[in-house]
Amino acid sequence: VSRVTAQDVRRRKSGEPIVSLTAYTAPMAALVDEVADFILVGDSLGMVVYGLDSTVPVTLDMMILHGQAVMRATRKALIVVDMPFGSYEESREQALRNAMRILKETGCGAVKLEGGLRMAETVRFLVERGVPVMGHVGLTPQAVNTLGGFKAQGRERAEWPAILADAEAISEAGAFSLVVEAVAEPLAAEITKRVAIPTIGIGASAACDGQILVLDDMLGLTGRVPKFVKSYGSLAGQVREAVSAYAEEVKARRFPGPEHVYAVKGE
Ligand code: KIV
Ligand code: NA
Repeated sequence: VSRVTAQDVRRRKSGEPIVSLTAYTAPMAALVDEVADFILVGDSLGMVVYGLDSTVPVTLDMMILHGQAVMRATRKALIVVDMPFGSYEESREQALRNAMRILKETGCGAVKLEGGLRMAETVRFLVERGVPVMGHVGLTPQAVNTLGGFKAQGRERAEWPAILADAEAISEAGAFSLVVEAVAEPLAAEITKRVAIPTIGIGASAACDGQILVLDDMLGLTGRVPKFVKSYGSLAGQVREAVSAYAEEVKARRFPGPEHVYAVKGE
């Protein structure tokens, strides 16, 4: 099989909903590859894997290492790698240089960056030079320090024009799809109607052309999750049970058993 491409995703506008999840490691990516149209190596890994308070400290080197791991473990899904905070905002040249590093060093099929109007010129610059770009508007977690926290967007009608202008600017700049995060349902529907590219919702209702969730959140591996996360599993509980069963058996010398030890040959 050949991989899903950015163009394949682009063509899914108003079609069968696009299925996507994040993954940061080889084993999880291999499990998701079967069902996902694309896998996002999200900078949410800073919080989910590294225990950071936000995505702000995530580096380009971290994203490249995880992008490589996910590429090695998958063969079907399009792999999209997030550009981390500070790696693309300075100039379109800085953005291109770092996007090229991600593409060349991981072999992934696209990058994602946050921001609307102010990033449109950069998106166009990258796309014209061969870098497929996914946009991300609404709640943009890298801006946590100026937004003053993680909160839903567009719950006041007065906020709508700016968010709609952001979405349209990224679409017109040539992005192949657009993540819409934590926006009021009717605004998500309006964005989806207005832009020419598929919208990928997270906390943005079923009106979007596709959905994404952070895998660890929907599996019940993370502690506190936002309102928009549905729990499709409770792996934390299973891990806790397995680990405590192991601890008890170690203390009781019931593990390792005879089947887990090496005998001397011929004895
Ligand atoms: O980093 C991430 O996981 C994301 C998704 C939530 C869209 O950007
Ligand atoms: Na992200």
